[in-house]
Amino acid sequence: MTKAEQQQAVAILVPGQFNDHAVGRIDRTFSRVWIERPDASLVTDEMRRAVRGIAAFGGINAALIDALPNLEIIANFGVGYDSVDARHAAQRGVMVTNTPDVLTEEVADTAIGLLINTVRELPRAETWLRDGSWARNGNYPLSRLTLRGRRAGIFGMGRIGLAIARRLEAFGLPISYHNRRPVEGLPYEYHGTLKGLAEAVDTLISVAPGGASTEKAVNAEILSALGPNGVFVNIGRGSTVDETALAAALAGGTIAAAGLDVFADEPNVPPALLAAPNTSLLPHVGSASEHTRRAMADLCVDNLISWFSERRALTPVPETEKVKARS
Ligand code: NAP
Ligand code: 8YV
Repeated sequence: MTKAEQQQAVAILVPGQFNDHAVGRIDRTFSRVWIERPDASLVTDEMRRAVRGIAAFGGINAALIDALPNLEIIANFGVGYDSVDARHAAQRGVMVTNTPDVLTEEVADTAIGLLINTVRELPRAETWLRDGSWARNGNYPLSRLTLRGRRAGIFGMGRIGLAIARRLEAFGLPISYHNRRPVEGLPYEYHGTLKGLAEAVDTLISVAPGGASTEKAVNAEILSALGPNGVFVNIGRGSTVDETALAAALAGGTIAAAGLDVFADEPNVPPALLAAPNTSLLPHVGSASEHTRRAMADLCVDNLISWFSERRALTPVPETEKVKARS
């Protein structure tokens, strides 16, 4: 058998609806296996025997990993892999890959757009024009908030956080950040706690990953520290926010406004956030251009190809960096 024929025999499980470009490449290279959703109870005996790889938008838990004894690699479509049990995968000797870097600039662009929409109310101003209010009632009211004079704080100064910071620097905003550890050589002010960061700034942008260590980190105390002129933008993960506390802070004037691209229970958005006049809301579109999703799809599939042809992953997540390919 040629190498290409050997690869064609490798079964890759692709649960649910997946990116078309990735599906096309998987079909041309491997043997694709489909299930409706990533759920161990849907795994058949034939899948159990054959499946060696998964390509997915996350949602891979320990039960699904355990249901596939010949699984070698999970190629996650997305840089955030909080919904893949990577620690369990590592224990089982299964590689997990993600799609870093190729989406960084796109997501940073979206974060800036969302920040400006939130502060300057641009979506509402456009609705004012389109629904005839401009012609009927005159000018759109002046925005209560401005970016001028603001101090920005970034929660999660990683690849995307840095790309957002570079853009904000060009806007003339001073920048501070919070990570668990300071980034060596970075000129921005570091805060060892999220509360310390929130107290020091009035514009908090979260681009932290999901998972246990950030669960509901942005809570009532943090929002109160941000203060009544405060603007909160979340482009990271919805799980990092206590959404009930956020809705209360927006309603009670604890903070001024929020811009959200991500939610704890997508696609369900809490009614209180939908109804709030001081929110700008997006349906998780941080990386959602054809250009960037294609690059993510390519990296997702390239990881599978590299694993099954060269026996190494291109972009392993830290938890599975030491996982070696079975001979
Ligand atoms: P990254 O380079 O790994 O950056 C993550 C940063 O968060 C790191 O600097 C890390 O620093 C910090 N961090 C992690 N856990 C923390 C904790 N418990 N407390 C404080 N800081 C913590 O990742 P990235 O490529 O910038 O992506 C970041 C996240 O953005 C992804 O995980 C994903 O959830 C989200 N994202 C969203 C979209 C969208 O469409 N809205 C698109 C892409 C990515 P330390 O390790 O020093 O703490
Ligand atoms: C995608 C993301 O929306 O990369 C991430 O972590 O959240 C986004 O780029 C998601 O991965 C899949 O659609």
